[in-house]
Amino acid sequence: MSEPRILVTRRWPDQVERHLKDTYDVQLNADDRPLTVAELQAAFRDYDAVLPTVSDRITAEVMGAEPLKARLVGNFGVGFNHIDVEAAKVRGLTVTNTPDVLTDCTADLAMTLLLTVARRAGEGERHLRASEWTGWRPTHMMGTKITDKTLGLVGFGRIGKAVARRAHYGFGMKIIYYDAYPADPDAVAAVGAESCSSVEEVLKRADFVSLHCPGSAENRHLINAERLSVMRPHAFLINTARGDIVEEAALVAALKAGTIAGAGLDVYENEPKVSTELANLENVVLLPHLGSATEETRVAMGMRVARNVRAFFAGEPPPDRVA
Ligand code: DGY
Repeated sequence: MSEPRILVTRRWPDQVERHLKDTYDVQLNADDRPLTVAELQAAFRDYDAVLPTVSDRITAEVMGAEPLKARLVGNFGVGFNHIDVEAAKVRGLTVTNTPDVLTDCTADLAMTLLLTVARRAGEGERHLRASEWTGWRPTHMMGTKITDKTLGLVGFGRIGKAVARRAHYGFGMKIIYYDAYPADPDAVAAVGAESCSSVEEVLKRADFVSLHCPGSAENRHLINAERLSVMRPHAFLINTARGDIVEEAALVAALKAGTIAGAGLDVYENEPKVSTELANLENVVLLPHLGSATEETRVAMGMRVARNVRAFFAGEPPPDRVA
């Protein structure tokens, strides 16, 4: 069989691009420009494997390209809500993702957001750089203590558990959680986590709420105006999962009204657009989808995609098949 033809939709770390180049007939995206719908359709017509990421919408329209050549969609990322998995199945496409390798760094970033928003570190840095600081005083920029507070996790999967470990062992936080699926009993016991019977119970009891459920049609706007209204006024919302889990307009309203104290966000409903109203608020910390953005993790993600590609074209089951 001739070498599979592979298209990578965005720039990947050099080490991974070199590995792909040495192994396959690969088309890289040196300019890192997002592909248009027509270009993605052409990719499904011309290549055996398309390797997209969260910034590409792999819709039924895209995969409907005729005649279809592609057989594999090897996603660079663990979340795959940007891929219409049902449409992929109909088209006979195999879909893979990159679990595990980004768990630690995404959990680290959730803690970064939690600490930054609670201790007003973003505000403090802006204040200092604007030469507004006049010196130490007892009431200056008081934030919220983290140690011993209650962290509520919505989702107790890989990343939720990693956040729980950091919060519990690093900051003595009490962990409560809600997960629609049964949680790993060892992980629950390791941090003394308490299961809640609903998302609402987590929201009502937590001082910090961190979202770790997948992006999906069911979870779209899971955190809406009604649910935000049951959170405690001193509580903070952290989102490193997917932007559309939170209804952004409702969050802006809650932050302005003081329904909650603040938010730390890495993901947004209409990425890369972020509402100006959100960007103008002081009680939010906003990062540009950096959860997995460390050299080590991005290389590991790329190599994980490569492992799936290798297995698929060797006629073996790809280790991270999701469809
Ligand atoms: C993921 O892996 O899901 C990250 O959010 C990047 O897509």
